[in-house]
Amino acid sequence: MRLENKNIVVTAAAQGIGRATAIAFANEGANVIATDINEEKLNEMKANHSNIETHKLDSTNKLDVENFCSSLNNINILFHAVGFVHHGAILDCDSEEFQRSINVNIYSAYLMSHSLLPKMIKQKKGNIIIVSSAASSVKGVPNRFIYTTTKAALNGFVKAIAVDYIKDGIRCNAILPGTVETPSWEGRVQMADDPEQARKDFISRQAMGRLAQPNEIASMAVYLASDESDFVTGTLNLIDGGWTL
Ligand SMILES: NC(=O)c1ccc[n+]([C@@H]2O[C@H](COP(=O)([O-])OP(=O)(O)OC[C@H]3O[C@@H](n4cnc5c(N)ncnc54)[C@H](O)[C@@H]3O)[C@@H](O)[C@H]2O)c1
Repeated sequence: MRLENKNIVVTAAAQGIGRATAIAFANEGANVIATDINEEKLNEMKANHSNIETHKLDSTNKLDVENFCSSLNNINILFHAVGFVHHGAILDCDSEEFQRSINVNIYSAYLMSHSLLPKMIKQKKGNIIIVSSAASSVKGVPNRFIYTTTKAALNGFVKAIAVDYIKDGIRCNAILPGTVETPSWEGRVQMADDPEQARKDFISRQAMGRLAQPNEIASMAVYLASDESDFVTGTLNLIDGGWTL
């Protein structure tokens, strides 16, 4: 029960890292509101985890985010996992694709944090955890131009919030996963010309010779959400199986 009395909003909670983290938070005693655009998968989750509340929410929709956040009381923690992987170098990324990634990967984090921070400041305690990536300011990865760019921005985003609100009792940290076996990762494998080769390539670039599982990222999230990490703020927490060694 490391998260008893914590009220946590989780975004992108219908699958992958967000889902595993929402479940891990609830298992540690937190009151979890799991949000996502995928209502069907949220309902599935609710059916299997009656201690998790769910809410359909597009984290890029200003009005919806503001309405949702204003309906909440006593939120202590935001775990923000919304993100989209565009495949390609800069010359493969047109203006529309560029804007889409900025919107999904950065603007969503801004909207959620901007709407929840005032509530956290009022309580003199709050905690924002953003899912960034090792593919960011830490590591250049081929064909991840706009993804890497937006995740690098999120690394700056957490440091900016951490420094501006430290005196208000707010902590803000990022988690930087390597490659995690999630439904969207599986989708990227299947989209390759040779999916079996793509799967082998993804795994062979991992120093440990395996991918991470979503629950391994959730373990780090539980630590960052708990009071055990009370002295931790503005940090970029790599969890990449040695990918960046
Ligand atoms: N899987 C990986 O290898 C990996 C590695 C590093 C970082 N990450 C990051 O982790 C996060 C989660 O990735 P994943 O692979 O676990 O999940 P995923 O891509 O499998 O699922 C993403 C979820 O986000 C939801 N979503 C998409 N747009 C949304 C929006 N506008 N509002 C609300 N929900 C929305 C989708 O419905 C889906 O349920 C992302 O930010 C991703 O960039 C993933």
